[in-house]
Amino acid sequence: MPEERIPPCPWVLTQSQRFAPAGPHVVVLDENARVAHYAAFLEAPETTFVTNRWTVLEEFEGAGARVAFSDLDLATYPAGSVSAVFFRVAKEKALVHHVINSSARMLADGGTLHICGLRREGIKTYIEKAGALFQGKKHVKTTRVGARCGVLTKRGKVRPADLLPDDDYTCLRPVGIAPELTMHTKPGIFGWRKEDPGSALLASVADIPSGCSVLDLGCGYGYLAIRASQKGAAEVWATDSNAAAISACQHNYKAFGVSGEVLAGDCGDTVERTFDIVLCNPPFHEGFQVSSELTGKFLGAIVRLLDAKGVAFVVVNSFIMLEKAAKTVFTDIDTVTDNGKFKVVRLTQGTQPCTT
Ligand SMILES: C[S@@+](CC[C@H](N)C(=O)[O-])C[C@H]1O[C@@H](n2cnc3c(N)ncnc32)[C@H](O)[C@@H]1O
Repeated sequence: MPEERIPPCPWVLTQSQRFAPAGPHVVVLDENARVAHYAAFLEAPETTFVTNRWTVLEEFEGAGARVAFSDLDLATYPAGSVSAVFFRVAKEKALVHHVINSSARMLADGGTLHICGLRREGIKTYIEKAGALFQGKKHVKTTRVGARCGVLTKRGKVRPADLLPDDDYTCLRPVGIAPELTMHTKPGIFGWRKEDPGSALLASVADIPSGCSVLDLGCGYGYLAIRASQKGAAEVWATDSNAAAISACQHNYKAFGVSGEVLAGDCGDTVERTFDIVLCNPPFHEGFQVSSELTGKFLGAIVRLLDAKGVAFVVVNSFIMLEKAAKTVFTDIDTVTDNGKFKVVRLTQGTQPCTT
């Protein structure tokens, strides 16, 4: 089998290892991180990994790496205890600023932050801002394909006033999601400031007989789970791969008194039971890329997690050919509604649905 080509960001981060002082290194892994791309880091004995994605945790742990799964909770590293931090920037600005600020705290004097991203991801600005905060030497490498990596040396004490605005990244806060619905959410979670129009459409058309069991697959802060509970579901479970989503959803379960479990997992792989109803607003964007592979993965998970007589409601952008993909795994596929932007597709195995 041909060797997989390492994408430019992990590649240039790997190259930058030679500028890192010896000692404990921390690698922050984004949702697209793959073991094969970080092989050189796995070989270094003093390296630990941190990720907020369950999928990444499973893959790196499987390769024997020491990985922490959290909402990038870097407060667990004492101040000045780390020699180098490696970070491929994420989509969310607040998250990027949170990692830069945390690095300023946890790096020892003379320690280095290695930060990398593509031109269109705002990497030039991030390197400039972090450079001003760190006050030491700055080494920048740009690849031919537009990936840029800055190696920034921390010198002296970082002044709290100079930290980058991170929108209180670590804190959950109440957000008026809809006129009658306030939920706790935060940056780093899908659509955290508002009710997603696709999810709102799904919640409005999904038939949830009272007493049914429901799974919110890819739950985010738990919007669909709370709506299902409000409609009279007896038990609602929720699962997501994002650590930030799991903690927000757990908080909202307590606040709304929802009966059920909230579990981190990859497409529900940690959920070991089936449900009368599965609700899903699947992610068809992975990091900066659009992924069609995920469609199949989510459909497969729905088949596994749905009772034989169960019903799944899935919302997608109107242009996504979900019905076609679903044909291989479901017998009954019905487009319940399509407003030109989003459509809700109802999937069953052709047996009598739950009417508890
Ligand atoms: C479009 S959002 C929907 C969120 C939420 N249901 C809502 O309506 O606001 C898709 C969610 O799927 C999650 N997700 C992405 N990949 C996943 C995976 N492999 N396993 C489980 N959840 C995943 C994302 O973290 C995100 O919260």
